[in-house]
Amino acid sequence: MDQRTLVILKPDAVERGLVGEILGRLERKGLRFERLELRQLDVATVREHYAEHRDKPFFDDLVAFLTRGPVVLAQVAGPRDTVATVRTLMGATDPLQAAPGTIRGDLAMLIDENLIHGSDSPASAARELALFFPDPQ
Ligand code: RTP
Ligand code: MG
Repeated sequence: MDQRTLVILKPDAVERGLVGEILGRLERKGLRFERLELRQLDVATVREHYAEHRDKPFFDDLVAFLTRGPVVLAQVAGPRDTVATVRTLMGATDPLQAAPGTIRGDLAMLIDENLIHGSDSPASAARELALFFPDPQ
């Protein structure tokens, strides 16, 4: 049974010209893109997306970063544990701790500009996909 997750290539990925590199890694793994869109996010949507972090000291900077330029949104599908598969390909939140071979480990240096978001559980994936892609396909 397929599982779906939400991936966001953050503004740094677009600015640095790494969209093809990152999408290619997901694609070469065997994951499929069911929806793929370049979109400028608004502050309200990003605040809702990252609501679990609203009381953290980095929240306002995180929202400002996610809205400073366009992102690439993807609904990603694959067999079984797609949510966990994408998280493994991403690497740890802090790129300096992320393993070589991962997207963050190979391509990033800064925790607040770490290139990619992936939903952290199947429940988060369902919530986030409904937030960013509310219209039926
Ligand atoms: P994401 O949600 O973006 O996929 O990242 P994540 O699950 O690996 O990390 P999470 O804990 O959900 O944090 C969301 C984003 O907030 C920034 N952050 N900064 N300065 C800090 O200590 C700190 N901690 C988190 C990161 O940009 C992280 O991706
Ligand atoms: Mg997260």
